Amino acid sequence: GAPVEVDISSLAPGEMVTVEWRGKPVWILRRTPEMLASLKKTDGQVADPGSERNPDEFTPSYCINEARAIKPEFLVAIGICTHLGCSPSTKFTPGPQPSLPDDWNGGFFCPCHGSTFDLAGRVFKNKPAPDNLVVPRHMYLSDTRIVIG
Ligand code: FES
Repeated sequence: GAPVEVDISSLAPGEMVTVEWRGKPVWILRRTPEMLASLKKTDGQVADPGSERNPDEFTPSYCINEARAIKPEFLVAIGICTHLGCSPSTKFTPGPQPSLPDDWNGGFFCPCHGSTFDLAGRVFKNKPAPDNLVVPRHMYLSDTRIVIG
């Protein structure tokens, strides 16, 4: 599939846009400072905090960091659960909610078998999904344009 160019200039902090690349949904989430700070809290709760597993498959080398990003503010991830391929939903509001832990800091929830992911797409421990959400290959063409693929 051809690379996809995305204009992120109108994406406000806390907002997410979904674009299609190779028939897959790609999320671009502009994280707030609070959202980024929450990653410190989930470091100890996620299965692969450093995104070290199968980096060729899940995380490009330039995104092997806590935020899993080139620019920490922007998460780019494929919105497909690494368990059996369902679409996780956004659960950005921190705090207790049905199906989520009481100390929830915001992230994504897969309704199929209950896997949860933090705001860097890192899977929580002891969930059916074995791996973090895939960060696709991407780069910045400018401050406001990303190309995926
Ligand atoms: Fe997401 Fe099973 S497909 S938890």
